[in-house]
Amino acid sequence: MGNSASSVHLPVLLRETIQQLQLSEGLTVLDGTVGAGGHSSKIMEAIGPSGNLIGLDRDQMMLNFAKQKLEGGSYQLFQKSYAEMNDVITECQIPGVDRILLDLGLSSDQLADDQRGFSFDSTGPLDLRFDTTQGKPAWKLLEKSSEEKLENIFHEYGEERYSKQIAQKIVLTRNQNQIHSAKDLSHLIQDCTPRSSNQKSAKKHPATRVFQALRIAVNQELEQLETFLKKIAHESLNPDGLVAIISFHSLEDRMVKNAFRDKSRWKNLTSKPIIASPAESRINPRARSAKLRVAIKV
Ligand SMILES: C[S@@+](CC[C@H](N)C(=O)[O-])C[C@H]1O[C@@H](n2cnc3c(N)ncnc32)[C@H](O)[C@@H]1O
Repeated sequence: MGNSASSVHLPVLLRETIQQLQLSEGLTVLDGTVGAGGHSSKIMEAIGPSGNLIGLDRDQMMLNFAKQKLEGGSYQLFQKSYAEMNDVITECQIPGVDRILLDLGLSSDQLADDQRGFSFDSTGPLDLRFDTTQGKPAWKLLEKSSEEKLENIFHEYGEERYSKQIAQKIVLTRNQNQIHSAKDLSHLIQDCTPRSSNQKSAKKHPATRVFQALRIAVNQELEQLETFLKKIAHESLNPDGLVAIISFHSLEDRMVKNAFRDKSRWKNLTSKPIIASPAESRINPRARSAKLRVAIKV
């Protein structure tokens, strides 16, 4: 996937993000989660040919999508984590960047790829890594981790009510059969959670929190965000530079909110996060949980 197919991802809060980034011709902008280039293509238009667009993503498949979308413009793409953007800035031989955008989490293109395990009913291996060349896939974590460790992951990163029951069932099941695909895991979760959290009328799939937790764990997502907020963002921005972050769950949003409260480092431009309009949420269900926060480096 990724080379011939076209992207199915709809960028969230697109108009609001472009407005908040306060773009003008000639700026240097770093999109730390370039994905399929939805936000970046609008950024490229706004900064014009004299501007400089740098895009990062941990997933090579997403960089291929971005190349298609940005074709004809001037940009540089790197397979890197946003937590390593200082290395890219050094490689580009520039002092820093004027704007940074992070649109965290998962792209609909990753969700649509049956071989990555992001979708609950996919039959390929339960991988869940953004960069499949690094670290260990989620199925291996399920195979090797103690019951206690699994319970902690589901509880801390997924705030899952039935962490204990799910961890117990995984350990019991894996001794007989390998839990290899996303479908295997979602069936197991449905089997050991109460029917009320399982019914079709429930807003979220019963496996949502466990999948989120495993994805956070295998990609070390909170550690990446912490490194970025504590050190990398401030170091990478030019004076008066601005950072905009879109997050999709409360663990990340809380980290961003708390970081931007530090008045010695940030002028917070969003005392309340910007959220999607009802119209956008209707068209794009991913937008329902999106929160955009923006700050200027002081
Ligand atoms: C929600 S999508 C971005 C969509 C993009 N804004 C667009 O409009 O197409 C999030 C992207 O971030 C990437 N990603 C996740 N963690 C990352 C990290 N630490 N560094 C760089 N990219 C990351 C994922 O691979 C995914 O492609």
